Amino acid sequence: MTEQHNNRLVKFRQDYQPPAFSISCVKLCFELEPNTTTVTSVMQMTRQHADVPLILDGQHLTLLSIALNGDPLLADAYQVDAHCLTVFSLPDQFELTIVTQLSPQSNTALEGLYLAGDTYCTQCEAEGFRRISYFLDRPDVLAEYYVTIIAPAQRYPFLLSNGNKLSEHVDSAGNRVVQWHDPFPKPSYLFALVAGDFAKLSDQYITQSGREVSLELFVEKGAANKGDFALQALKRAMNWDEQRFNLEYDLDVYMVVAVDFFNMGAMENKGLNVFNSKYVLADPSSATDRDYFNIESIIGHEYFHNWTGNRVTCRDWFQLSLKEGLTVFRDQEFSADMASATLCRIDAVKLIRTAQFAEDASPMSHPIRPEQVIEMNNFYTVTVYDKGAEVIRMLQTCLGKTDFARGLALYLQRHDGQAATCDDFLQAMQDVTGQNLTQFGLWYSQSGTPELTVSQHYDASSATLRLNLVQITPATADQSEKQPLLIPVKIELLFPNATVQQHLLLLTDAEQQFVFDNVTQQPVVVWLEHFSAPVKLINNVDDDSLLFIARHATDGVARWDAMQQFWSRKVAHCLSASQSDAVLPDAVLQLMRHWLTQPGDDLALTAELLTLPDFDTLAEQYQQIPVNQLIDILRQFKQQISVKLAQPLRQCYDVLPFQPYSYNQQASAVRRLRAVCLSYLVFSSVDATNVLTSQYQHADNMTDVIAVLTASQQLDSDIFQNLVNDFADRWQHDALVMDKCFALVASNPHPQVFAAIETMQQHPLFSWNNPNRVRALLSAFSQRNPAQFHRADGKGYQLLANSIIKLDAINAQVAARLVTPLLSWRRFEPKRQQLMRSALQQIAKIKGISNDVYEKVSRSLN
Ligand code: TRP
Ligand code: ZN
Repeated sequence: MTEQHNNRLVKFRQDYQPPAFSISCVKLCFELEPNTTTVTSVMQMTRQHADVPLILDGQHLTLLSIALNGDPLLADAYQVDAHCLTVFSLPDQFELTIVTQLSPQSNTALEGLYLAGDTYCTQCEAEGFRRISYFLDRPDVLAEYYVTIIAPAQRYPFLLSNGNKLSEHVDSAGNRVVQWHDPFPKPSYLFALVAGDFAKLSDQYITQSGREVSLELFVEKGAANKGDFALQALKRAMNWDEQRFNLEYDLDVYMVVAVDFFNMGAMENKGLNVFNSKYVLADPSSATDRDYFNIESIIGHEYFHNWTGNRVTCRDWFQLSLKEGLTVFRDQEFSADMASATLCRIDAVKLIRTAQFAEDASPMSHPIRPEQVIEMNNFYTVTVYDKGAEVIRMLQTCLGKTDFARGLALYLQRHDGQAATCDDFLQAMQDVTGQNLTQFGLWYSQSGTPELTVSQHYDASSATLRLNLVQITPATADQSEKQPLLIPVKIELLFPNATVQQHLLLLTDAEQQFVFDNVTQQPVVVWLEHFSAPVKLINNVDDDSLLFIARHATDGVARWDAMQQFWSRKVAHCLSASQSDAVLPDAVLQLMRHWLTQPGDDLALTAELLTLPDFDTLAEQYQQIPVNQLIDILRQFKQQISVKLAQPLRQCYDVLPFQPYSYNQQASAVRRLRAVCLSYLVFSSVDATNVLTSQYQHADNMTDVIAVLTASQQLDSDIFQNLVNDFADRWQHDALVMDKCFALVASNPHPQVFAAIETMQQHPLFSWNNPNRVRALLSAFSQRNPAQFHRADGKGYQLLANSIIKLDAINAQVAARLVTPLLSWRRFEPKRQQLMRSALQQIAKIKGISNDVYEKVSRSLN
């Protein structure tokens, strides 16, 4: 049963039907031309269900010919419309030959086969293969691929596809002809083709069983020196997966191509990953520490998909979290081993608390395994990916690392070469451990953010500690009824005598009490240590205990979290009481002074301990977000800190060494702490401008430069503008660095931002056709500039709406992602609600609006 939603097809998870035909083998031949690429597809097919026609998916294709077992089909034997090709009365086993034509040049959606600059490139996940050829474009149809690519030899030195290269030659007409074979049956979404001229970096990896794998990285010509870090990261990822999960690579070659036009971060196509160049290219002068970190983690992510995603894939797209949640979890564990584990976890927690909690509170709320979808591309979300990873992490917490690894091994072995479901995954975990995971399974079907209210009661006379936990998941836009979940709650008990106990509480009921006997001293309780579950914690721990935890907990994440809680409360207090409460207590200033004067061994953690929660984190705690007040209070707090701690801030800044750049934990921690100091110094230091200018001029790396530019946004606008102008001048030829410039301009909290954004849109490197450019400017504006995006006159909303309308015709997938900040209109006061709604209504009126944008806007307005 499918449902029409205003003429749009809604698909439901419950409606899954196995495919009516299978495709054992497909031979594809591409004759590449900008506007008339010809694709010949020869498929070996077998009927699985009697009495049904064959319905192949296909869009934006011109059918040139179709033949059954070599004979052209008569016109009445098939039927074509805008979405499919139906073939009637077929035998049980047959060969179908289909020739189609398409125009990569006019493909601005960057889905299917597209031409960007001089490079042909494909993107097939989720449903892009249907823009290449008529096919059963669904993840449970696995076929063996043979691919031939033909293109002018001079212009296209590299013609790449999945698997192993079988042959290569130049024909008499000057065309290069290359043949590929991928021995592993795969779904169409993992198909890839790239044709172009590149700089090629080569390396080698020897697997734990001694097989040689050649590693090949393709980047734009002239950027060869920026590829080495990614290549080294790939080897670290290959080694890590062998060590941690005993998983080895399976082909003789692993190729990674970096392209500048790309809708997302990267894509795990079998043996031929395609990456957004932003997540490959790096050198110290142009990439920040954060860029290096992201490159390593995304290189890892795509590599880890080879097992969790490719060898075992998804039965249908509702199961997306089966591969994405699991693979994000794997990349997080990898990053935690390569970089600072505490910082990795803090970053993950921040993302859940801001974007994911917001998504669950929005009209787009969905479980990590969605129930209904109009446009699949809209479900590559923080919920499916990052909450999905949290669910996997909870499973590991509940089962223990060893059993979790055994369960994963069984799952991969049992389903190797298959398309599986989330239930298959849980079943393997259950079979290995003997634990009943029925209740845990609710995390897959239930959306929303559980609220966990905790309290503690210590009775000295009986030496007992009672911990009381209550869980409630409020109704969400998609689901009104909620059941109690299995929530692993890690706690730490900090005793006055400096001893520490750690426990894992498994909460299963709506309300539950845990009693500890023989507790002879009253401890401070650290709740939800290491963010052991993606829930909102509500507790009554007093301010002094929070500061105590921030100082003494063993878990760095818990220490950081205590500070975040402390500040959130202070902010809430200021909001509800008089403004005189904005005076910060001495205790917190003392503690911050202590960290500044004795930053300890873990400078990165110290930097985080000294950082106030950002606007989004604070906003998440309010039903109705008090925009101006939050911005004002945050600013007041920062000002006070900068005045009262002026001297230790300056001293801390001054002793941090400027050393020649190298990307490593210790050095990036120094830079992180320096950036935090700078972010306060700008509020009060008499010579803030000099400090900034000096750092800007002497920095040998992008991290220290960006820290200056970001901090200077708080100063009067001319200083920021001068620095940005200089920066833009220096980097006017480097698109990836210009993205940083676009983002800085767009996140500038001053009202000049509107004119500045307009100017930037005229920059020679800006293009509405390039997702990186558009995101740099518009996501930065709508997600990192609350003051101007949420302007009371609605100018910010208008800017975003107009951009979305423009973009929808070019690239609907990217346009739909830009809609997100408007979806939460119900969270603002009536005047802003009205303005946001009318922006959405304006978008809803687009003629020929895409499914992508339609689905989100209509869910939000209904
Ligand atoms: N599967 C990819 C990943 O997680 C992401 C992805 C999904 C994607 N759809 C895409 C990438 C479209 C680019 C374009 O790594
Ligand atoms: Zn992924």
